[in-house]
Amino acid sequence: MTTTLSDKEFEQFKYLIYQQVGITLDAPKKTLLVSRLGKRLRDLQLSSYQAYYDRVSGEGGEEELMKLLDLVSTNKTDFYREPVHFDFLREQILPEMQPAKTLRIWSSASSSGEEPYTIAMTLFDAIADINRWDIKILASDISTRVLAKASSGIYEEERVRQLSNDLVKRHFLRGKGPQEGKLQVRPQIARLVAFRRINLMDPTFPIRSQLDVIFCRNVMIYFDRPTQAKLMNKFFRYLRPGGYLFIGHSESLQWIDHQFRYLRPTIYQKPVSVKSEE
Ligand SMILES: C[S@@+](CC[C@H](N)C(=O)[O-])C[C@H]1O[C@@H](n2cnc3c(N)ncnc32)[C@H](O)[C@@H]1O
Repeated sequence: MTTTLSDKEFEQFKYLIYQQVGITLDAPKKTLLVSRLGKRLRDLQLSSYQAYYDRVSGEGGEEELMKLLDLVSTNKTDFYREPVHFDFLREQILPEMQPAKTLRIWSSASSSGEEPYTIAMTLFDAIADINRWDIKILASDISTRVLAKASSGIYEEERVRQLSNDLVKRHFLRGKGPQEGKLQVRPQIARLVAFRRINLMDPTFPIRSQLDVIFCRNVMIYFDRPTQAKLMNKFFRYLRPGGYLFIGHSESLQWIDHQFRYLRPTIYQKPVSVKSEE
């Protein structure tokens, strides 16, 4: 079957994806869409991209739409990726929270879980009396596929290859028998993290307590500036005064309108004097 994706069809998909998840597909992404959707068309025995578009955008198309979103988004992540944020959490934020012993952290594009589990491991290693703390790490993503992987807490051995043996021993259980070659995050780490599906494009988020820290790393790059600005304003509302925002190393808030205080590259703070508008 040779099916081509016309410019008009590409525009339709582009608009649908932008509307649903805020991801902007530029022209070079047309090739990517073609290569990723081709298999889907074959699996569903559809003869054109238009037929596929009609299916995802029509009534009852939600499940397939999720699959489409999975195909166009990048889920690349790692344990201890961009470690300055975990150092900052340990060295700057933890001492501030020591008197209250509470922490509310949101990993807002958590992908398959490496980021929120790294947060939990960092806290576990840094807090001697962790059982006396009230810690909640909310981890969310738009993709149910990566969220299922994340909540299983099970990873292939190669995912932890760059970590020290000590760290792996401390925070993972080794699989045996049919699970040989796999590792599972230990229960004392996993219980600090709760996963749920949240679309960052939603006007409000299902979060009640004020947050101390938001991780929003390596997802903003896929959004255009107005979408980034809207998201930063929402984050601002959900953070407590003095709360922190971490973004990815190839991202910046430099070109968008926001109220955060810049602390250092990729680290921002909600000023203490600003009252939350909730
Ligand atoms: C490259 S991963 C980043 C993972 C992790 N934060 C890190 O830096 O390693 C980007 C994630 O953003 C998610 N994503 C994309 N659009 C989203 C949206 N509108 N709402 C929530 N998550 C979204 C994708 O599903 C993907 O898992």
